[in-house]
Amino acid sequence: MTNSPLIKTDHIYLEAGTAQNKVKILQDVGFSIDAGESIGIVGPSGSGKTSLMMVMAGLMRATSGEIYFKGEPLGGLDEDALARYRHENIGIVFQNFHLIPTLTAFQNVAFPLDLVGRRDAQERAEYWLNQVGLGHRMHHMPTQLSGGEQQRAALARALITEPALLLADEPTGNLDTENGEKITHLMFDMARDHGTALVMITHDEALAARTSRRIKLVDGRVVEDVTRSGASGAARIAAASSDAPFKTS
Ligand SMILES: Nc1ncnc2c1ncn2[C@@H]1O[C@H](COP(=O)(O)OP(=O)(O)OP(=O)(O)O)[C@@H](O)[C@H]1O
Ligand SMILES: [Mg+2]
Repeated sequence: MTNSPLIKTDHIYLEAGTAQNKVKILQDVGFSIDAGESIGIVGPSGSGKTSLMMVMAGLMRATSGEIYFKGEPLGGLDEDALARYRHENIGIVFQNFHLIPTLTAFQNVAFPLDLVGRRDAQERAEYWLNQVGLGHRMHHMPTQLSGGEQQRAALARALITEPALLLADEPTGNLDTENGEKITHLMFDMARDHGTALVMITHDEALAARTSRRIKLVDGRVVEDVTRSGASGAARIAAASSDAPFKTS
């Protein structure tokens, strides 16, 4: 299946609630994403953006429809296989970060590599914390970090595995303009260097402007799926990007 897209959502429906009180969260969502694409998912609050991300990550199962990763359906995978799928392919930045509260920033970031016994886990964690500008906050607990710092630690944890697909829910949502810019550069550098596909839920106009494609959800349906012509967002930002987006102190 060499020509399969990286990930494909096929007639995805997601419902919650009881039979009398059914909530239709996603309705017939379908699109394909190729390696290296950068996509901004937009839409009003409650339109199903986070739910869609959870289904793509294999953290929630669709009511009907299927997700294909490199042509393989996720539907047949048990929980262990889904966890492996996530670990090997996906970096996730959650809307509310989901840092492990009992671990320091450093331990949180190293965690995905520690889990599989990677010897370079600590070295890579230090590298990524410096990349997101948290070199001076490595040994703080999540509660001792500001919202924006937690967000950056969560991004470092998502990028440490150099994933094929980054799913990020408002990755710049808690950051000032300058830090938002730096984080944006980091994600696009990852896309350029590792062919990572970026799927970013965002209200940040500056970030959305750099994506090569925009998908809009309203009431759980895709109402817009537009790919920009000309240079890709990744190519444009790569030209303006520096190697070290943060000074390490
Ligand atoms: N477990 C659930 N049971 C019932 N309704 C749910 C459940 N999970 C989500 N919903 C509803 O599904 C809709 C979509 O939620 P979702 O979190 O995906 O929206 P969103 O687009 O990410 O919104 P926001 O921009 O506010 O983060 C909302 O109306 C929400 O209330
Ligand atoms: Mg959301």
